[in-house]
Amino acid sequence: MIYLDNHISFGEDDKEALRILVREVLKPNSKIVEIGSWLGTGSTKVIIEELQAIGSGTLYCVDTWKGSENVAQHQEVAAHYDIFETFSHNVNLANGEAYVKPLMMSSKDAAAIIEDGSIDLVFIDGDHSYAAVTEDIALWKSKVREGGILCGHDCECRPNGVLRDAISSSLDLDYIPGAGTFFEVVHPGVVLAVDEAFSGSANLWAETPFSRPNGVHGRATLWDNQQLSTITGPSPRPPISHDTPLPHLVGAVSDYNIVLFAGVHYAAPQSLGALDLSQLDLASRPPEILVARSYDEIVLAITEVSEQEQPIPHLVGAVSGYNIVLFAGAHYALPQSLGPLDLSQLDLSSMPPAILIARSYDEIVLAITGGY
Ligand SMILES: C[S@@+](CC[C@H](N)C(=O)[O-])C[C@H]1O[C@@H](n2cnc3c(N)ncnc32)[C@H](O)[C@@H]1O
Repeated sequence: MIYLDNHISFGEDDKEALRILVREVLKPNSKIVEIGSWLGTGSTKVIIEELQAIGSGTLYCVDTWKGSENVAQHQEVAAHYDIFETFSHNVNLANGEAYVKPLMMSSKDAAAIIEDGSIDLVFIDGDHSYAAVTEDIALWKSKVREGGILCGHDCECRPNGVLRDAISSSLDLDYIPGAGTFFEVVHPGVVLAVDEAFSGSANLWAETPFSRPNGVHGRATLWDNQQLSTITGPSPRPPISHDTPLPHLVGAVSDYNIVLFAGVHYAAPQSLGALDLSQLDLASRPPEILVARSYDEIVLAITEVSEQEQPIPHLVGAVSGYNIVLFAGAHYALPQSLGPLDLSQLDLSSMPPAILIARSYDEIVLAITGGY
C-alpha cells in the first residue's frame, strides 16, 4: 500500500542549496548518486527536476527502502506501507522514470558496484548515525570524479559550541534538540562524522545565509567538499558561488515564458523577446515581469494578471487522462473523455461529478491519483 503523506522532510532552503550544487556539476549525461531516497519527494524530486531541465542524466537512488533503524517514524511507516512502491509512485508523478535508476540495496553494496571517479555528485542522506555517516563518506568519496561534488544532508553545525557535549554523547541518535543553533534539531552523528572526515574544513551551508534575488534569506543544512582538495585530487573545484549560474525555461502559460533562476520563478511576457535574467536587476525590472517562489505561485500570478482583463481557463497540465485547467484561482481536473468543455459556462452546482476541483496544482494531482 502506498504511503500518501504531504509532509516533506526536505525543506525549501535545503532544496535551494541542493539545486545550486547540482547545477555546479550538471552537464549532458551527468551521473548523480543519492544515498537515501525514502519516499522520493525530497532530494530525489529536486535532482529529477534538474536533470529534466537539461534533458539527460541518471540519478542512482540507493536505498533499502526499509527506513533508517534509528528513526522510529521510518520503522512505523515501513511496517504498514510499501515504501518502494510509494517511491516509484512519486517518481512517476514527477515524470522522473527516464532519469532514475533505483538500487535497492545497502549503501555499502551499492558502493561496491559503482566505479571510482565515475560520479559527478554524490549526495549522502542515509542512516544518520555517526558510524554510518563515517562509513558512507569513506565509501563514496572515491566515487566522485575530479572536480565533482561530495555532499550530504542534515549537518547543522560544527561539533563544538553549546551543543558539544550533547553531540558527543548522542552519536547513535538520529537527532537531538538544536537549541543554540539556527535549527530545531541537530543530527549529532552527521555533525561529528563530517567534521572528522574533512578535518573541520567541509563547507557547511548552515554557516552562510544565502540571499536570493527576491530578497529571501535562507540557511540550509547541507555540507559539501568545497575546500577538500585532498579528496578530489590536485584540482579542486573552484569555491561555490551562491549565485545560480543558469536560468532554465520551465514552462509557458498564456503568452508568458516561465523561467527558474536561482530558486525564483519569473514569468516574462513572450512579447518582450529574449531576456538575460542573470543580467537583470530585480529592483528595476520591467513591471510586466512577474516574480514568485514556486511554479504554482507564478502560474497563479500570470492568471491573476490575465484575469484582470477577462477570466479565461488556462490548460496547465495533463495527468492520467485528465486535463488540468486553472480558472479563476482554482484547479479543475477534467476527464479527457468528456471532450472539450468551457468552464466559464459551467456553474459549480451543475458540474459533472467526474470533474475534480482543488486549490493548488499539487492538490489536484493528488485528487486525480487517488490521494483524496
Ligand atoms: C533521511 S531518509 C532520506 C530522505 C530523502 N533524502 C528525502 O529528501 O526525503 C534516509 C533513508 O536512508 C535509507 N537508509 C538507511 N540506512 C541505509 C543503508 N545502510 N543503505 C541504504 N539506505 C539506507 C532509509 O531507508 C531511508 O529511506
